[in-house]
Amino acid sequence: MTIAEKEYARTEGMKTVKRINVGLIGFGTVGTGVVRVLKENASVIKDKLGCELVLKRIADRDTTRDRGVKLDEGVLTTDAMDLINDPEISIIIELVGGTGIAKDFIMDAIGSGKHVVTANKALLSTHGKEIFKKASEKGVDIGFEASVGGGIPVIKALREGLAANRIESIYGIINGTANYILSKMTNEGGKFEDVLRRAQEKGYAEADPTYDVEGIDTAHKLAILINLAFGTYIGLKDIYTEGISRINQLDIKFAKEFGYRIKLLAITKSIDGRVEARVHPTMIPANHPLANIDGAFNGIYLKGNAVGPVMLYGMGAGMMPTASAVVADLMDIARNINTGAAHRIPALSYSDSAVREVTIKETDSLEIPYYMRFLAADKPGVLSNISGVLGRHNISISSVIQRDRKIGGSVALVILTHHAVEKELMAALAEIEQMDTIHEKPVYIRIEENLGAAN
Ligand code: HSE
Repeated sequence: MTIAEKEYARTEGMKTVKRINVGLIGFGTVGTGVVRVLKENASVIKDKLGCELVLKRIADRDTTRDRGVKLDEGVLTTDAMDLINDPEISIIIELVGGTGIAKDFIMDAIGSGKHVVTANKALLSTHGKEIFKKASEKGVDIGFEASVGGGIPVIKALREGLAANRIESIYGIINGTANYILSKMTNEGGKFEDVLRRAQEKGYAEADPTYDVEGIDTAHKLAILINLAFGTYIGLKDIYTEGISRINQLDIKFAKEFGYRIKLLAITKSIDGRVEARVHPTMIPANHPLANIDGAFNGIYLKGNAVGPVMLYGMGAGMMPTASAVVADLMDIARNINTGAAHRIPALSYSDSAVREVTIKETDSLEIPYYMRFLAADKPGVLSNISGVLGRHNISISSVIQRDRKIGGSVALVILTHHAVEKELMAALAEIEQMDTIHEKPVYIRIEENLGAAN
């Protein structure tokens, strides 16, 4: 047992109640939620663990702001090392975020034999390999349930509940802010900027909201899911990433007409030894369960070869749901401490020697249906010129809609394709864009028809 696993006992009446001390670095929205969950649910946590989780110290640069929670004298400090060097603290929670100082805190905490809980998806998808390796060497646990899907226990599902499966595919709505924006735009016709501001006010958005809007946060989380699903270490650079900033009301309206909804999806599929890893706005059938996940809710629809399809759904962002995941990790680690079973489950669920590289399938070779929208001159021959280019690239049309006719002006022309090879589609779009009769850069959106049945 390391020094960090010392248990501190106090006498309560005739019984001895064990205490496990915790230190929190980063006292922002989620940190405040952690303080609240530990206080408000203290009795149920103690009943389940048979011991108390005590938040002994909290470190943050700002020790004066009122977060609406009451703390004992001396709990707050501006120096995270006060926690990391405290031999009475067994678990460090890192909620600083980012890939800078947060990494040092985690590596130092592991170095001094402490278990770590983090919500830091950017860090784990960038330096996960190094962090998990060090944790394995030191025999300590890393909990990261809060890094993907807010309060949804998707990490636990992949690591434990579905451990017996080969994972075939995962489709996830895993950014609450982007989903909030898209669903407000779809259901209420809200404007992008207004809706984003509301998401920020509700505490869903990242410090830099372009991470939410441009799909980067979703890609960080997808990297973590892929690493768990396939026992590998891929990162942001391996994931094709496109955000929602170019989605407008026209595309949302046309999607509805064709029986689709637009969602920012994280997609991975394992097919013939290659792994698809992509994040982009996607049209999915309006009657699929993922299509009806609105607001800051997240949903993960995955398929295991034994279990079949599984759907997980819940709040993907916000103070209390994310804190729920952080405290669940604390409880798992406390149980391991209490039973001397630290590091019982490897970080990725795969044993260290089984973690391997995977081959990523480039989007060029995707073969799926596509939605295309052109702003075209309203005159004879335009459609036949476009279809001529598509035909030369082996792209077969499944539907066409033309709207808002203005004689002598421009019209919105929408074309849906049958399965087409993405490389051919991009080449055709580049050719069409050069035509005098095309007045704007064409828009394309990928379509996923048979989610979970694709392989
Ligand atoms: N900004 C993230 C989101 C927070 O909107 O989903 C949760 O990771």
